[in-house]
Order: sequence, then C-alpha cells, then structure tokens
Amino acid sequence: MDENLPDKRIAVCPPKDRFFGFITGHALSLRKSRLNFMYDSFLIYGDFLEMFLGKRRTLLVNDPAGLKYVLFDNAKNYPKNTPGYQRVAEVIGQGVFTDIGDEWRKGRRAIQPIFNPSKFDHYFGLILEESDKTLSKMLEEKDEEFNMSYWSTRYALHVIGRSLLNESLEDSFDIISQKLSKLIDLTEKKMTAILPFKTPSKKRDEKEFSETLHILDTEIQKIIDREKEKSRTSGGNFIHALLDSPENFTEQKILSQVKTMIFAGHETSANVITWGFYFLMKFPEWQDKIFSELKECNFEITSEEQVKKFKYVNLFLNEVLRKRPPAWSFGRVAVSDDMIHGSHVKAGDLISISPYLVQHHPDYWENPEEFNPNRFEKPPLPMTFIPYGAGQRVCMGERLANLEIAMIYLKTVEKFKLQFTEEEFEMPMNPQVSLRTEKTLMARMVKR
Ligand code: HEM
Repeated sequence: MDENLPDKRIAVCPPKDRFFGFITGHALSLRKSRLNFMYDSFLIYGDFLEMFLGKRRTLLVNDPAGLKYVLFDNAKNYPKNTPGYQRVAEVIGQGVFTDIGDEWRKGRRAIQPIFNPSKFDHYFGLILEESDKTLSKMLEEKDEEFNMSYWSTRYALHVIGRSLLNESLEDSFDIISQKLSKLIDLTEKKMTAILPFKTPSKKRDEKEFSETLHILDTEIQKIIDREKEKSRTSGGNFIHALLDSPENFTEQKILSQVKTMIFAGHETSANVITWGFYFLMKFPEWQDKIFSELKECNFEITSEEQVKKFKYVNLFLNEVLRKRPPAWSFGRVAVSDDMIHGSHVKAGDLISISPYLVQHHPDYWENPEEFNPNRFEKPPLPMTFIPYGAGQRVCMGERLANLEIAMIYLKTVEKFKLQFTEEEFEMPMNPQVSLRTEKTLMARMVKR
C-alpha cells in the first residue's frame, strides 16, 4: 500500500457482456474490438477500471499517479509475465523483452552496451546512409504510386540489421518480415480465442504457427552462425556481445535475444513511420514546415544533435507517437496483494496499461482527438506521454527509434511531395499486438 496514492477511488466495472457476462465477463466485448471497448469505457467510466476475462480480473490503470505507482514506486510487485507476454514469447522466445527477474537483468546488462551514447555517432552515420539508400531506390521507381507500408518496414528492418547485426538483412527481408507478421497475426488470433477447446481451425493455426516459426528461427540462426565466423575487430556487434558475454548464454537464449531485437526494433518503428506518412498526407502543411527547416540548413544533415534541434519534425513525431503509439496496450501481473487507489489488488490480478488511453486523456490533453503537433511546444505532464513505456522496463531502443524515424521523414519530404491516392482518404486503426494500419498505405509521390 502506498501513501503516494491519496486518491482513494474504487475501480469502476463497466457493464459485462450481454447475456453471457456472468461467464465471459467482458471477454466478448473486448474480442469484438479491444481498443474501442477500452476507449469507450475509459471515456464513460474513467481512467481506473475493472474488467474480467472470464473470472480473471484486470485493473485498467490509466491515470498518471496510478501509472507511476505500478511502473516505478511498486514496480517489483508488478512484473511482466502476463498471458499476453507469454504469447509474445511463443514467437520471440524468452529474451530481454519477455524475461523477468534475474534472467531479465542478465540480458539487459549484456545488451545495454550496444545502446551506449558513444555508439550513436556510428548509428547516425548508418541511419543517414540507409535513409539515403531508401530514397534513391524510391527515386528509381517509374511508378508514382508507392506502397508506403512496404517501404517503412523495409527501411526499419535495414536500420535494425545494420545497427545491431552489421547486416542490412536485405537477403532475409522477405522471410523475416512476412514470417514475423504471420506469427503476430496467429498470436493475436490465439489471444482473442474464446472457446477453451481445440477446434479444427485452431489445430490448423497451430500447425501453421510451428512451421512458420521454424522457418523464421532457421533464418535467424543462419545470421548468428555467420557472425560466429567473423572476427571481432569490426566492433559493436550485438551478436558478438551476446556470444562473448560472461553470462554464458545458451544457443537458445542467443537466438531469442536476436529475435527479440529484430521484433521489438522493427515492427514498432515501421508502424510509426507508416502512420507518420499518413499524417503527412492528411496535414500537408507539416510537409512544408519540415521542408522549410531543411532548406534553412541547405539540406545538410550532419549529426544526431542537429536532428534533435529541428523543431517541426520533432513536434510532428511526438504527435504521431501520441496518436498512434505502436505499443498501445501492455500488461503487468500482481505478485502479491496490494492496494491501487481505493481498490484491493489480489495476487494474480492483471494490470492493463494503455499509452493510447492516457495519451488521449481529456484531463491532460486539450482536444485529444485532434492531430496537433504544436501541443508539444509545451512539455507534457509526467506519465501522460509514455509511448516508450516507463520505469525499469522502459524501451531500450527509444533513442535509436526517434533518430531513424525523424530521419526518414526528413529525407522523404526533401525529395518528394506526398499525396493520397484517393480523395478524402481515412486510415482505420488495426490494434493488434502493435497498433497497425488497417490497410496498406499507398501514396502518390511527386518528385520535388
Ligand atoms: C517507435 C518505436 C518504438 C516504440 C514505440 C517502442 C515501445 C516500447 C515499449 C512501450 C516498451 C515497454 C513495454 C513494457 O513496459 O511492457 C518497449 C520495450 C522494449 N523495446 Fe521498444 N519501442 C520502439 C522501438 C524499439 C527499438 C528500435 C528497439 C531496439 C533496437 C526496441 C527494443 C526494446 C526492448 C529490448 C524492450 C524491452 C525492454 C525491457 O523489458 O527491459 N524498441 N518498447
């Protein structure tokens, strides 16, 4: 129990599912549309809610004080081994994203050096190179219509490959992106399944899951095996750091850690990049603003410091992260009994945290639905803007992600004017494990 939470509110339980609520709790409503149901309940009943998946209780904590309590003040009582993360672990294995306790600490300690500030001059150089290469390839295309979802994923995977594995992943691109994407879809299906027994379609999905996973693992193991052969003089390679770590990681652990980085590092960034292209087309004045500050420096980008100082691209990026946080919801599980605000927490209860909800909280964001990058002229209040999470499990790749995303917006706007291929286009959200676009994003790219 914590005195930092003087607000003794009790979590509100929205009405359960019609007809079957006494058995299913809120599971059917959540299954229909998890984000919509959570957001509507949040707007009607507030930022501290109680929901049930069958009999299992989940507290939705989405007020800044409650978030601080769960992620910082009493974080040791709320580790990450939720059913959701266990499902993710079936795809990426037990690595720094999904481990808890000592196992997590060992992994995070071994990996941390690759995100050392001293590495960022090197990362800046290769992100600049990868963004230039991406734009040159796009400029070579005859067609004016581009599949921006594809280009975003391709760029994000190249950046993660070059920065962490010293490979562009060009040859493995199709296998990694398609198989990972397939596995995420199948995982989402499993997470939202209602019937507790195995149906023929579930059996088919399970077979497809294990075959797809095998192909992905084999491809990534090939990358690791290639690295084993290479000399260590080129420096700074993530796989070498794991192979040479005093922790003596097993082969399986190394495979999981590499998969973790590829998964955590490209799916999220690729989604933000795609959503950013969408908002650039919806609000073309932001293309002009970003272009104008590039023009002021003669289109020369020479350091990460300079990228951070560009005003418009950073306001824009923050607003994209606020409106479309890829990790739109994540969870924790209570280890022992506790109190959050005025509600008892029982060991085993789940805690749901949603960057999407708190970043649309009407008490902290004026007109939260409106896309308005200028709102970031003022820094947001603590714990109201958490696209990268917070506390000891905060994202390891935040700095790398911000740099690569800002860079690709800058470079794209420098070379092209982006337009929708259809009038009055609206892109719906597809809130899966991460917050994707519902459809492929197409753009008409007019060379400047
Ligand atoms: C826009 C891009 C990204 C977003 C929005 C994002 C968001 C997040 C969030 C919210 C978490 C915490 C989840 C939780 O507390 O349960 C997280 C964890 C993590 N992220 Fe990211 N991420 C991004 C890019 C990256 C990149 C580029 C990398 C690697 C290069 C990365 C590596 C990780 C790792 C390793 C963790 C687990 C940290 C731990 O549990 O100790 N992420 N990310």
